[in-house]
Amino acid sequence: MKTEVNMLTKDLPIGIFDSGLGGLTVMQEIIKLLPNENLIYFGDSAHLPYGNKSQKNIIRYSLANAKFLQKQKVKVIVVACNSASAYALDALKKELDLPVIGVIAPGFFSLMQATKNFKVAVLGTRATINSNIYQKLILQKHPKASFYPIACPLFVPLVEEGLHKHHLSSLHIHEYLQPLKDKNIDAVLLACTHYPLLKELIQNYLGKKVLVIDPAIATAHALKELLEEQKLLTSKKSSSYKFFVTDDAKKFKILGQNFLGMEIKNVKEIEPL
Ligand code: DGL
Repeated sequence: MKTEVNMLTKDLPIGIFDSGLGGLTVMQEIIKLLPNENLIYFGDSAHLPYGNKSQKNIIRYSLANAKFLQKQKVKVIVVACNSASAYALDALKKELDLPVIGVIAPGFFSLMQATKNFKVAVLGTRATINSNIYQKLILQKHPKASFYPIACPLFVPLVEEGLHKHHLSSLHIHEYLQPLKDKNIDAVLLACTHYPLLKELIQNYLGKKVLVIDPAIATAHALKELLEEQKLLTSKKSSSYKFFVTDDAKKFKILGQNFLGMEIKNVKEIEPL
């Protein structure tokens, strides 16, 4: 069912979804840039991780998440997950009459702005890397670019376990990123919502000459532009945040603070969709 466009009003909340906790890094940037907007966050923790799932299931889950948010009467949907943005954005845009934005295009633009020598790396889940979406975008823009995609599937469980500052994370960073050391890259995109928590360790490992980019910042700016364009910026002067998860609200509340940078209240656990 398509939503009636005339139901969109600027004071409705913004809907954000992810496979679990990671999208909170995107929500954090949205809060910084758009502090008066009401936000509804949906974390599909029962189906986490999306990054190891097939395209078919990522699309299925993403459509269900978006429809749930639509029922909460949101004015726009932010797909705050790289794996879901890589595989499901087109299907979401087709199915929904709401504006939908993902994290891939903003990430790609920031990477292209950051690089001077067009030797770049993209770090992501298996799903995101296997989708080849960044490769296509980058090589379309710059056919001579040197592009190094690296799937880092163990980063997500490390961050989920709160080990993002632990030496185990440094070991895995060395294991995955060592091949980049002699490639003269000047920019790396953290194309997974969990990886910004490892930014400091990744930056230290790759050195100061490499710009390490978190697409959450550009995504928040893209969202603001979209709301401005569509005259959907809120007129309110205060905000509220609501959270829905499909598994373990307690874990979400505790670990989520690392991702969001603030206390998480108002979490409701619902049945998986
Ligand atoms: N949110 C996912 C992403 O950005 C990472 C976690 C997962 O695999 O579900 O790709």
